[in-house]
Amino acid sequence: MYKDIEDIINSIKDSSITIKDIINEADTAKSSSTNSTGDIQLKLDIRCDEIIEKNFSKLSCIKQIVSEEQENIVKINTNGNYLIAYDPLDGSSLVDVNLSVGSIYGIYEDSFSGKNIIASIYVVFGPRVEMVIAYKNTLKMYRLLNGDFKYVQDIKLNQKGNLMAPGSTQAMWFDFHKKMIDDFFKDGYRLRYSGGMVPDLHQILLKSGGLFSYPATKDLSKGKLRQLFEVFPYALIFKIAGGGAIDGKNNLLDITTTHIHDTTACFFGSNYEIDIVKKVYKDER
Ligand code: AHG
Ligand code: MN
Ligand code: MN
Repeated sequence: MYKDIEDIINSIKDSSITIKDIINEADTAKSSSTNSTGDIQLKLDIRCDEIIEKNFSKLSCIKQIVSEEQENIVKINTNGNYLIAYDPLDGSSLVDVNLSVGSIYGIYEDSFSGKNIIASIYVVFGPRVEMVIAYKNTLKMYRLLNGDFKYVQDIKLNQKGNLMAPGSTQAMWFDFHKKMIDDFFKDGYRLRYSGGMVPDLHQILLKSGGLFSYPATKDLSKGKLRQLFEVFPYALIFKIAGGGAIDGKNNLLDITTTHIHDTTACFFGSNYEIDIVKKVYKDER
């Protein structure tokens, strides 16, 4: 078990070191294809996806993988124990303007569903490369130094923070959602939104807490962010960090996935802010 998870972590480390080089020399041109959620893929998205798939394919402990950039599940080893869902390069359009981006991995057992996620890992590619691993009730951060990831610290959220990362198009927000966000700002919260969920959530996790939201809107009734590759991995991370992760009403890890590319509204934060979201959403939707 530990050996398998260690192999998976080492594979992700290798991929991340290569991805960092690719970002540096990146051709950020668009490809001619769109992914399953309809986004135009960058050549960069596809290259990162290929690296991760190639490295995972070497591991016999992996049964299946599924990528945000691929339509279907890829089978690796029928006798493998783990299923991995990943977003090779979240926020890839930000590479052009030299903002931080990241990779997100969810490790599942038995099936791709919130209740079966057993570990998650994300890697931030910013001025530094950092990796955060959620496994067995611990949340640990590592930093790339001279070709190796060195332990830096454990991560724990405060009960209440002061950062606000309000996602999606404001013109499409429901009135009650807008009022809730406005009230947070009136209460002194500071805006921190880069458009990349990996650095935005990393900031909330490292700087005492707050709230990241990507709500259901008038045009997107299930939000934008994908359950398996983006939402469930962070739901586990926020749970272990001592905060919360909900769709407005329910814990995100309890929601049902009907298709591998399903999206959901999502809120990640420290407990104080998550309780406010629950109170507001209880009466509204
Ligand atoms: P992608 O995987 O297509 O790069 O998506 C990025 C995500 C996420 O990182 C971010 O929080 C969100 O899209 C930003 O979307 P908006 O611009 O709609 O707020
Ligand atoms: Mn993404
Ligand atoms: Mn992506």
